[in-house]
Amino acid sequence: MSEPTEPNHNQATNATVLVTGAAGYIGSHTCIELMANGFDVIGVDNFDNSEPVVLDRIAELAGRPIQFAELDIRDTEALRKVVSKHSPSAVIHFAGLKAVGESVSHPQKYWSVNVGGTLSLLDAISTSDVSMFVFSSSCTVYGDPAAVPVTETTPVAPISPYGRTKLAAEQAIIDHLSTRDCGGLLLRYFNPVGAHASGRIGEDPVGVPNNLMPFAMQVAVGRRDALSIFGDDYDTADGTCIRDYIHVVDLAQGHVAALKAETDIDSCEIVNLGTGRGSSVLEVVNAASEAVGKPIAHQIVARRDGDAAVIFADTTKAESLLSWSADRTMVDMCRDHWSWQSLNPDGYRTAD
Ligand code: NAD
Ligand code: UFG
Repeated sequence: MSEPTEPNHNQATNATVLVTGAAGYIGSHTCIELMANGFDVIGVDNFDNSEPVVLDRIAELAGRPIQFAELDIRDTEALRKVVSKHSPSAVIHFAGLKAVGESVSHPQKYWSVNVGGTLSLLDAISTSDVSMFVFSSSCTVYGDPAAVPVTETTPVAPISPYGRTKLAAEQAIIDHLSTRDCGGLLLRYFNPVGAHASGRIGEDPVGVPNNLMPFAMQVAVGRRDALSIFGDDYDTADGTCIRDYIHVVDLAQGHVAALKAETDIDSCEIVNLGTGRGSSVLEVVNAASEAVGKPIAHQIVARRDGDAAVIFADTTKAESLLSWSADRTMVDMCRDHWSWQSLNPDGYRTAD
């Protein structure tokens, strides 16, 4: 297993990467991996779903401060100033909203941030020297696929406003980059879980977690009574849904691989980032219980609307195009997620 990369101050690349959503869950882990690999990072975020203390933790783990500007990505002029000042050669675009349920009740907010924000960013870099644009897309664009594993040519059929905004942003990026000399990688993530091995940064959902691992870990730490498992009557071995969970540090390292692959890429490519392995909800709960050292209380309830029964990635393209694969196991994911949750029971809100 490749460890989180140790800081190496001699590994200068002279390349600056603009990271939007740098203070978020995946963005913060990626900033550390980028800085450890010699990239200079200029992060931007409006802290809509993150806390400023994350920047201190990134600096602590990376061994040097992160350059940062607080802004909303829909503020094109503010972004343009950052681009003009730092002259990034690459952009990684994480900033966005990601709660499926909220996207149903507030679709305009999702179209504004996820699509409007992407258009604003594309506008802000339009006359810059950016030569690689990496976008955080999602396997949610595949909806409930007819066959697994899903390849990048599996038909797209998003079933929520969130999924439709991710697909629309992909299409805007493809059209924009076709007019200029800039490569693009549209990375469709499967289910990121886990945390940095130090337990200093991790996922810190606001309110009741929507996702399985954060909910299970909040039960384990005593913040919630029991996990509800949404259905055990699916056509799977144990009746619960199957997903492709990927360690967030593997995912972060996938972004470093994406930038290092830059010279081989002269077009806009869609790439799945997953492990290629599916785990059922009950398998995850059992692995999490092992990591925690006690059973995680759970009950079976009705199915959740919109859940696909089974989805996991075909990883062939990521391996060939990026020379990258995820190697952390479910045991690693649960151990590291538990380190983060147990050291920070209330997330960053108890931060020093
Ligand atoms: P996150 O919410 O932890 O991080 C997103 C960051 O973007 C936050 O720090 C937030 O404050 C910031 N942000 C939101 N709106 C902004 C705006 N208008 N201007 C500036 N900053 C803004 O989410 P994450 O899990 O790190 O996800 C990052 C990206 O990956 C998102 O685009 C998400 O759609 C995508 N993605 C996430 C998952 C997942 O399960 N976590 C899966 C697939 C794709
Ligand atoms: N689940 C439960 N109980 C919970 C939460 C989840 O049983 O409290 C189950 C779900 O029914 C599903 C599995 O755990 O079968 C995984 O659910 P998550 O909500 O953790 O993840 P999803 O696969 O549903 O979707 C998430 C995001 C999507 C994103 C996708 C892939 O919500 O937006 O991961 O990255 F596209």
